Formats: sequence, structure tokens, C-alpha cells
Amino acid sequence: MVSKHFYERQYNNCVASMAATEQDAPDLSQKVAQHYNQLEEKGVDKRKDSRIFYLRNFNNWIKSVLIGEYLKKARLSKPRESELTILDLACGKGGDLLKWRKGRIDQLICADIAATSVEQCEKRYTDMLERNSRDRRPQQIFHAEFHTADCGRVRLKDVYRNPATTFDLVSCQFSLHYTFESQSQAEVMVRNACESLRPGGFFIGTIPDGYEIVRRLREADDCSYGNSVYKITFNDKEDFPLFNCQYSFYLEGVVDCPEFLVYFPLFVKMVEQYNMRLVCRKTFADFFNDHLHCPESRGMLARMHTLETYPPDAGVELMSSVVGDYEHAELKVRQLEAEQTSEESSADRGRRPAKLGTLSKSEWEATSIYCAFAFEKLADDGTQLSVDDNPTPQASKRKAPEQYSAEDEPAKARPRL
Ligand SMILES: C[S@@+](CC[C@H](N)C(=O)[O-])C[C@H]1O[C@@H](n2cnc3c(N)ncnc32)[C@H](O)[C@@H]1O
Repeated sequence: MVSKHFYERQYNNCVASMAATEQDAPDLSQKVAQHYNQLEEKGVDKRKDSRIFYLRNFNNWIKSVLIGEYLKKARLSKPRESELTILDLACGKGGDLLKWRKGRIDQLICADIAATSVEQCEKRYTDMLERNSRDRRPQQIFHAEFHTADCGRVRLKDVYRNPATTFDLVSCQFSLHYTFESQSQAEVMVRNACESLRPGGFFIGTIPDGYEIVRRLREADDCSYGNSVYKITFNDKEDFPLFNCQYSFYLEGVVDCPEFLVYFPLFVKMVEQYNMRLVCRKTFADFFNDHLHCPESRGMLARMHTLETYPPDAGVELMSSVVGDYEHAELKVRQLEAEQTSEESSADRGRRPAKLGTLSKSEWEATSIYCAFAFEKLADDGTQLSVDDNPTPQASKRKAPEQYSAEDEPAKARPRL
């Protein structure tokens, strides 16, 4: 664990030397934009061939659950039937457009630094509108506007069609850490996220978990660690500045660019300056375990093909060929089979063997470096406006997702390739 005092000292120094940091700000954001611009948008069929098909679906499931939960909370703190306006900060190619549609929002503003991604995002939206208009029973789809902007440098309020727009929810998924290249960039990003939120609205997101990243670095023999699907490389094992703490991140076929460590307490302090309070911070492991028992989230797990079936169905190959990547699942299957054998009558013997939904160890290691967060904007007098509709259970101990047993689901709902 990184020493808290070490960071606190640094945070105080850093606040004192804010002006100096701004002048010295390096600039890797264009490199990041270039990286995302040149990423090919793959169709569903091609995505199925990806080695990290389930990992991507798992990350997508986390976003869906997080977005669904906070859209619901945002709705609850408003008069019924009032409109919902959302900011998708660093929207990428529009990976969350369907989530916004499903959430029945009314207006969406999308912004990202990568121009090609924004174009593709807009095209996906217009395709969605077009498909909907051809539908026998077309639905009401949200209005949207799209902006190419460095959200760590540009004040978005100045580029919205209506600068007075206020948001019910601001979502920044897998992106905020890029602006921790410098204090000024992180501050502009945080201001964009918070300043136009209405009281009772939420700022939600997902970022790499700085603690976990440094914990793994400390355990590594050198400045690099990872497995067959991801790799993280630092220049230094001891020095973790609050901003511009750069590492390179590689994720099979999707990411290969510089990223910046986010020290969470510092991020919280920055957000709190906008009359916000932290409502939730959870590692993906805890988030998964806490939502596993909610029927809606559990149903989505299967529908989104989030977990790989183990043992695989006849004729289906496992995603990973790395030795030991399914050891955890094998152990669990044997345990389930032993339990089944001791409980079942002789007439039941010979039933279908136990099957699980799981992620390969390599994919689990890659996804479990992330955490999810949510902040709420308070009223001017500091009171909380949200209604606690469904308090989330206490974070459970970190467990791998082999604990989800496909046996509990109707066979047709189990994840299948
Ligand atoms: C991993 S992608 C996530 C995209 C999208 N939020 C999602 O979840 O599908 C990271 C995104 O952050 C964007 N990004 C990075 N730095 C940015 C900045 N300074 N301003 C706006 N967008 C940025 C990239 O262009 C890229 O689209």
C-alpha cells in the first residue's frame, strides 16, 4: 500500500505550487487522441473473435449497472415525468449510446478529444435514429449533440449549444485518468464534470485503481507486470507524483498508450470543491460481488455474454489457452459436483455436469485493476437531495467471479458463444 502520509505531503505541496505545475504541463493528450482515433470500430462478429471478448463484456456490464443505478437515483430526485439530460464525458465511439437509449433519457451531450471517435459516435447515433424511424413502432429517442474537445483544456460550458444546460448525470467511463497528466488538465476535466450538474445530480465513472496498480508494481520483480492480455510498465518503482505519474498500459488489441495514476483521495478533494460528496467507490471485484444478487444485474450478466461458460459446451473452445487460466473454475466445478453427488438421489445421477460462468484468470487480473465511483451534487446549503432507494450492501471480501454459477440460471439464459 502506498503511504497515505506521503501523498498527503505531496498534495499540500502541490496545491501550493499550482502555478508552477501549470506552466510545466507536458502534453501527451494528442498522442492519446491519435491512439483512439486509429482504433478500428469492430462489429459484433469481429468482437467475438477477440481474446478479451468476455473482459470487454464484463467492463460493459459494470458500466451498464452503474449507469442504470444512477439514472434511477437521478430520476428519483426530480418531479415525475421531468426530462433527463446527460453528459457523456470522453464518450469515445459511443459505446454507451444504447445504455442511454435503454435509460430513456431525453438529451445527451457527447464530448471527446478524438475527432474520428466523435464522428463515429455521431454516426452510430444517426444510424440508431434511422433504424428506429423504420421500426413499426418507433420509440422516442433522445436528442444529442457531439463535440470534439480536449475536456482537460476546454471549458465545455462554452461549446454547448445552450451554455446554460444543466445535467442530471455526468458519466466519464475509462477516461478521466488521461487528464491526470497535469494538475491543470485534471482540474479542467473535474470542472467540466461538476460545474453544470444540478443539485441532486450525479457524476459517475470508472478509472484504474491507483492503489491496486501500485500494489502490483510493488510485488513485481521490476517496473513491469501483467499477463497474456495486459501489461503495465512504469519508469520508477518508488516515485509517485500526484500528477503526471505516467505508466504505459497495454490491453490486448484495444489500448496501448500512456496513462496517468490517479490518487483517489486527491481526486475526491478536487471534486468536493464543487459542492459534491462521494457516494460510492468500489473496486470492480466488489462492485461485481455486490450486484450479483440483484436479479436485474444478474439477468444482464447473461444477456450481455459477460462470463465464459466453464467447462465449455461441446465443440466450443475456451478463450484462453494459458495453462492454469481456468484453475479456479475447475476447482469450483469439482466442488459443485461433489455437493451435487452427495445431495442427489440415485435417480438424478448422471444429470448434466455442473457449469459455471467465469472469466479466465488473465482477464480477471486485467479487469480488477479498475474501480467505479459516484459523487452527488449537494444543494447550495450542503444538504443531500437524493433518496436512498436501495442501499447497496456492504462491500464483500474480494472474490473472483467463478462464484457465479450458471447452474442457478435457466439453461437458455446462460452465457453462450
Ligand atoms: C477507453 S476510451 C473510453 C471511451 C468511452 N468512455 C467508453 O467507455 O466506451 C478512453 C476515451 O478517452 C478519451 N480521452 C482521453 N483524453 C481525453 C481528453 N483530454 N478529453 C476528452 N477525451 C479524452 C479518448 O479519446 C477515448 O475515447
